[in-house]
Amino acid sequence: MLNKLARKMKSDPVEQTLPDQDAPVPAHIAIIMDGNGRWAKQRGLPRIAGHREGMNVIRTIVRSANKIGVDTLTLYAFSTENWKRPKTEVDFLMRLPERFLSMELPVLMEENVIVRITGSKERLPEYTRRAVEEAVTKTADNTGLILNFALNYGARNEIMEAFEHIYEDVEKGHLRKEDISESVVSDYLMTNGLTEPDLLIRTSGEIRLSNFMLWQLAYSEFWFTEVLWPDFKEQHLLEAVQSYQNRQRRYGGV
Ligand code: FPP
Repeated sequence: MLNKLARKMKSDPVEQTLPDQDAPVPAHIAIIMDGNGRWAKQRGLPRIAGHREGMNVIRTIVRSANKIGVDTLTLYAFSTENWKRPKTEVDFLMRLPERFLSMELPVLMEENVIVRITGSKERLPEYTRRAVEEAVTKTADNTGLILNFALNYGARNEIMEAFEHIYEDVEKGHLRKEDISESVVSDYLMTNGLTEPDLLIRTSGEIRLSNFMLWQLAYSEFWFTEVLWPDFKEQHLLEAVQSYQNRQRRYGGV
C-alpha cells in the first residue's frame, strides 16, 4: 500500500538520540518553519521549490519528535497574513497539505500519529479542506503524537474570535462573567484541548513571533537558529531539545 515516498520516509535515517535520557523532553514543541524562500533563492530556484523541500523536512522531524517522546508537534504552515503572497505561491502552499497527506497518511497511521488542524477553515480551497478533514478523521482514534498544523492561523484573530464566543455565551447565560478565568479563555481558543508549547523553535535567523500562538507561548522556552527550514535536520531538533533541557523554568517564581 505504501507509495514510493512513504517508503522513503520509513527508511529516512532517524538515528540520533538525546545524550541525557532522563532529562525532561518538551511535551509540546511548536515550530515556525521559516526560510523556504531564501533557501530557494540561494539555489536560483523559484520560491515554491523551497516550500516543496520544506514539506519533505516535516517527514523526518515528525518521526524524530515521535521517537524522543514529544506528545504534540505544532507546525506553522500558513498564517492569516500569508494570503498576501503572490497567487501562484498561495496556490502552491494550499496544495501542500493534500500532497503531503496523500504520501504520508499511511505512514502516519502506522506510527499512530493524530493529525489536528488549528486555524480557520473558512478561506481554504475545497481540496485543502477535504485533505485535512480526511486526515483528521482517519487519525482521530490514534493515540500517539499529535501533529498539529497551524493552517490559515493568526493568533490575534484567534483571540478576537474567543472574545466574541465568550461574549455570546455570557449573553446567552451559558457562562457567568465571574467564572471567566485564564483556563476558560484557553478553552475558547482554537488550541482547546492541547497543552501549551513548552518549546518554540524558529528557523532562518528571524527573531519574532509573527502572530503565532500569542496566548499559548506565554511561558514557553524559545530557541532560534540561523538554519533555513529546508536544511533543518534531526540533529537541529535534538540541539533545541538539549538546550531546553538545560533551562530552568520558573514561571515567574524564583
Ligand atoms: C516561511 O518561509 C514558510 C511558509 C510560509 C510555509 C511553510 C510551509 C511548509 C514548510 C510546508 C507545509 C506543508 C504542509 C504539509 C502543510 P518563507 O517563504 O517566508 O521564507 P523566506 O522568509 O525565506 O522568504
